[in-house]
Amino acid sequence: MFITFEGIEGCGKSTQAELLRKHLVQQGHAVLVTLEPGGSRLGAELRRMLLSLDSIDLTREAELFLYLADRAQHVQKVIRPALQSGRIVISDRFTHSTLAYQGYGREMGLDILQQMNSVDVNGILPDLTFLLDLSPETGLRRALSRNMEKNIPSSEGRFEAEALDFHTRVRQGYLELATLEQDRIVVLDAGADPETVFEEIRKKVDQAMKVDKNVLTSQSTKVK
Ligand code: TYD
Repeated sequence: MFITFEGIEGCGKSTQAELLRKHLVQQGHAVLVTLEPGGSRLGAELRRMLLSLDSIDLTREAELFLYLADRAQHVQKVIRPALQSGRIVISDRFTHSTLAYQGYGREMGLDILQQMNSVDVNGILPDLTFLLDLSPETGLRRALSRNMEKNIPSSEGRFEAEALDFHTRVRQGYLELATLEQDRIVVLDAGADPETVFEEIRKKVDQAMKVDKNVLTSQSTKVK
């Protein structure tokens, strides 16, 4: 099973990914938590370039190709092998980030981005995507205080520095994607406390795992 978390800055994706990892490990599953950008060795280099404020003044096209390069390497070297070895993979951001940030945020064409994403992932698509929905005002406030707490230099915050209307477009974009992909994307109110948000996630995942198990069992019964 492949699960992704999406949302604007400060929505709590990494906290929820970690809570889910613990829950699944407790149930005896092997789990890999990973992230974009930065989930592969190449990705770690790309992440530095992409998130640094004082890096080269990237054009939106150059930025797009770096995210896509990060994802291609991530899928082929990390995600696919982990899924093949039977692990559950949880990724903090995936293809929907490109649609929301480059498509809606940077206002690049969605059709072409969908096509590029599909070449990029080569058939690997999330079974479930959690969209942690939050107002950009709250998200940015949380992201900035997180950066200060962790002593992350302001140069790490290229996206946090974008204007509020950029983040508003990204949020709207995510919500539109959720209406287009209702079978995959679950929208949650990330303004609620983390335990309440996680309870929703846990229920959904447990339910999806049950369905998955039943399908596998009925397939093996048929084979017998
Ligand atoms: P990160 O520090 O990981 O932010 P967060 O903790 O909010 O996930 O930064 C990732 C940034 O990269 C985030 O602002 C979204 C952006 N991004 C894109 O613009 N396009 C993409 O395809 C991906 C994967 C991320």
